[in-house]
Amino acid sequence: MPGLDADAVEALARDRLQDEVYTYFSQGAGDGISVSEATAAWDRYRFLPRVLMDVTHVDVSTTLLGTEVRSPFGIAPTTLQRAAHPDGELAMARGAAEAGSLVVVSSNAGTPFADLASVGAPWWLQIYVTADRSATAPVVEAAVEAGARALVLTADTPVVARKEVGARTVWEVTDPAWVRTNFAGVTDPVTAADKATDLGPQDIAWLAQRYGLPVVVKGVLHPADARRCVEAGAAAVWVSNHGGRQLDRALPTAHALRDVAAEVAGDAEVYVDGGVRRGVHALVAGALGADCVFLGRPPLFALAAGGADGVASLLERLASDLEEALRLAGQAAFAGLPQGLLAPVRGL
Ligand code: FNR
Repeated sequence: MPGLDADAVEALARDRLQDEVYTYFSQGAGDGISVSEATAAWDRYRFLPRVLMDVTHVDVSTTLLGTEVRSPFGIAPTTLQRAAHPDGELAMARGAAEAGSLVVVSSNAGTPFADLASVGAPWWLQIYVTADRSATAPVVEAAVEAGARALVLTADTPVVARKEVGARTVWEVTDPAWVRTNFAGVTDPVTAADKATDLGPQDIAWLAQRYGLPVVVKGVLHPADARRCVEAGAAAVWVSNHGGRQLDRALPTAHALRDVAAEVAGDAEVYVDGGVRRGVHALVAGALGADCVFLGRPPLFALAAGGADGVASLLERLASDLEEALRLAGQAAFAGLPQGLLAPVRGL
């Protein structure tokens, strides 16, 4: 499936998915303000390209916490991947492997972590820390044993924000096992779902010390929080508003990124997600200081559209579009893009 872009995979997925599933994947929280603003915020930037630069060879590869990836498009954690495709997380990881990308697996996954190891794609575990910390431990232990290379702590979900539902919810048309496969060591499913409302920097330190893996904190928008994460031992900060699925009207990540990146530059890696749909969006993100962009909905739609091949096709298309954008902007590499590539017209 050569070169499917984000719009093409969404159109295909919309045709194939049950309405309840498509709605669940695409919707935001509250009035849907943040979800609707995300892509438009990337589109508001303008470039000040350079000319007379040698762009014969351009390099979109990068390194994430020591793992080499072919392009700076990673796969963000999403639940219910088995509602998109019968092979769920396995097909997602296969697509990532094919495209030389990295996949972040949700703790609410429908595939045993141990099965992911055979795929060969580098993967990180995303976790929601539970109110009862002892319910978090078995899930993390299973992932560490299966070869997760980092832990991504989602920090923006003390409660799950309310979302509009139609006549039936997604949970009425899917199998609960698709979000709980890796909770075998947790005896009480209610405890497993009960998120911590007292999450703090001490949890970052606890995870880093207990499991010896780098900790990435996902869901940071405020520079002061980015600093608190780094001081507590986080190896990376992930600028995200959860794809508009948590606090509605939270700042678009395209606007939050610059200040967070400036705050922790040199002390931690910086990632961003939310509304990234084009190669040029990564060009903006790189110039604002991101080491990588992550994609939530597009790979889910690609999975529904064409399984592992659909995912690989999307990632390869984005990488190729970014290469073209780098050439046209007079830049030889994604890594280290200058801020001056962006013209000061953010509020167009
Ligand atoms: C998510 N996201 C998410 N985040 C997380 O930390 N753990 C999770 O289990 C999930 N689950 C999830 C399900 C679905 C259906 C969506 C759409 C999103 C948020 C996700 O990781 C990411 O932050 C956003 O999706 C990024 O925005 P875009 O790329 O979807 O615009």
